[in-house]
Amino acid sequence: MCGIVGAIGHPDAASVLYQALQRLEYRGYDSAGICIADGGALDARRAVGKLSALGEVLAKDPLPGMTGIGHTRWATHGKATLNNAHPIMAGAEVAVVHNGIIENHKILKAGLIERGHVFTSDTDTEVLTHLFAEAVASQPDLMSATKHVLGQIEGAYAFAVVAKAFPDQIAIARNASPLAVGLGEGANYIGSDAMAMGSMTRRIIFLKDGDYGVISRDDIELRSEDGTPAQREVVMASASPGLVSKDGYQHFMEKEIHEQPEAIAHTLAEITAADGGFNFELGDAAEMKGMVMLAAGTSHNAAMIGKYWMESLADLPVVTEIASEFRYRNPSVRHLDMAMGISQSGESLDTLMALRYAAEQGLKTLGLVNVAESTIARETDLQLLTRAGPEIGVASTKSFTAQLAVLLGLAAELGQKRGVLSADDAAKIHADLASLPRLMGAAMNSFDDIRPFISQLARAQSCLFLGRGMLYPLALEGALKLKELSYIHAEGYASGEMKHGPIALIEEGLPVIALLSNDEHLPKAVSNLMEAKARGAAVMVICTESTKEAVEDIDTIITVPDCDPLIAPILLSIPAQILSYLTAVHKGTDVDQPRNHAKSVTLE
Ligand code: G6P
Repeated sequence: MCGIVGAIGHPDAASVLYQALQRLEYRGYDSAGICIADGGALDARRAVGKLSALGEVLAKDPLPGMTGIGHTRWATHGKATLNNAHPIMAGAEVAVVHNGIIENHKILKAGLIERGHVFTSDTDTEVLTHLFAEAVASQPDLMSATKHVLGQIEGAYAFAVVAKAFPDQIAIARNASPLAVGLGEGANYIGSDAMAMGSMTRRIIFLKDGDYGVISRDDIELRSEDGTPAQREVVMASASPGLVSKDGYQHFMEKEIHEQPEAIAHTLAEITAADGGFNFELGDAAEMKGMVMLAAGTSHNAAMIGKYWMESLADLPVVTEIASEFRYRNPSVRHLDMAMGISQSGESLDTLMALRYAAEQGLKTLGLVNVAESTIARETDLQLLTRAGPEIGVASTKSFTAQLAVLLGLAAELGQKRGVLSADDAAKIHADLASLPRLMGAAMNSFDDIRPFISQLARAQSCLFLGRGMLYPLALEGALKLKELSYIHAEGYASGEMKHGPIALIEEGLPVIALLSNDEHLPKAVSNLMEAKARGAAVMVICTESTKEAVEDIDTIITVPDCDPLIAPILLSIPAQILSYLTAVHKGTDVDQPRNHAKSVTLE
């Protein structure tokens, strides 16, 4: 993953680079570093751990200068140590920041060692550094040196390079990993995304795969893969918020849970037409044969819930696929005509690559993203936006429920266009969605209701989440949240599947969290729950208000306001999120930046 930044021509490059890295910390937080090229001398500061550790180093030992590059790392090749922190240097000649993996790094390294280069890190990136050291010595200019290096490497990369030999330039290149250039006044910038440069400029050029180039304080020269000059459009990035703050909340996750009523309201405004109906511009999508939904992590759980809606409301066959599996198994797509990529960031590489594969197979592509300038938004044929606002907590919350709102709205719209739903039915769904901000606000009471049970859950080694129908994917999501935030082993199961194996796990006191709503599955879901309780499970039910009458002898029942079962997965998400959040806080884990994790996974 990793985030990379660059600045050239700014009087205090180190401080703008640091600010830009703050906006990219979602991409990794194993180590960070900045290298400044001041009059040709390269000088770097690096630190292991979160960006704040680098901040402390810089405060003690500042880096003056107008040109530099910076990096925040999610470790792949090589542990999170100081030696492996970027910028990776070749002596004092060259410094490189890199996001991606140089796939042929082993063979390149062997050749470089034979030619006398000494390696000081375990990273794949270091081959780039030494290749650049050779290239700047042998080539007439930095552009030729970059082309020379690109001719030798294979893999996914976005990188930026400063070289002592070319003190007034930064070399850049991208292939599969995102990279953007920001045009400033008397200065230019580089970032893994537009948001990184938000406080410096909104005028952005997004590089295309294979692009490379050289930037100076007043010029940007880009080449396409074949070496010909590349003219790339300058776009205005949407107004970037200042550095997002916690607004008095203890954690970003807590703030983002509370922001959900607003996130849904904004998202509904996005998908609502002037006449009050849905506003989706999908061309001939109503004639669709079938759709594949491609996503990762929490977004994949949203896809699974979306499938229920698409099939039941629009009679549209949908397959959901974990993006990282899809393109490697020769999937048969003859029965499909559209691929929808669902991604908060719009940058998850697996999802992007799966969409590209789907496009190659002739499917129309649709991106459902939260970041309007993201790669997936730019590469897909059609786009749907969630308006959840910047999500900083690594574990998705508000973007998940916003994705669900769009998926339900889309299913209703398609249902109407396909003659499955009447206009009244679609209007009822719209009204139910419109009630969500209010209902979600009321569901925030779960914070107080859940708190008394947290110490018990925090002691557990393991935990099961159960759901049936649309609440099965929500059980997967509840388990994912608990795992990633509080490091408690948790599994989500379809309630009816319990007796086919997982029931063997139940022993006295095992926490079992059941998600229930007043839908057609309720009687069977309650029976499944009783089977667990009869075997000693400590059962907690999370349900809509009137559903609690259907469950007996359960000590812990957390309710949300009554709602149509169709929107219950959205509303019940809130207590599921709160449960994980409070457990993590109780255990003292790093809620916003869980160990080994990153917000946006830009590696395959
Ligand atoms: C990471 C995040 C998850 C997220 C997943 C997919 O694993 O920690 O919260 O669901 O990536 O990200 P995307 O941006 O594609 O939705």
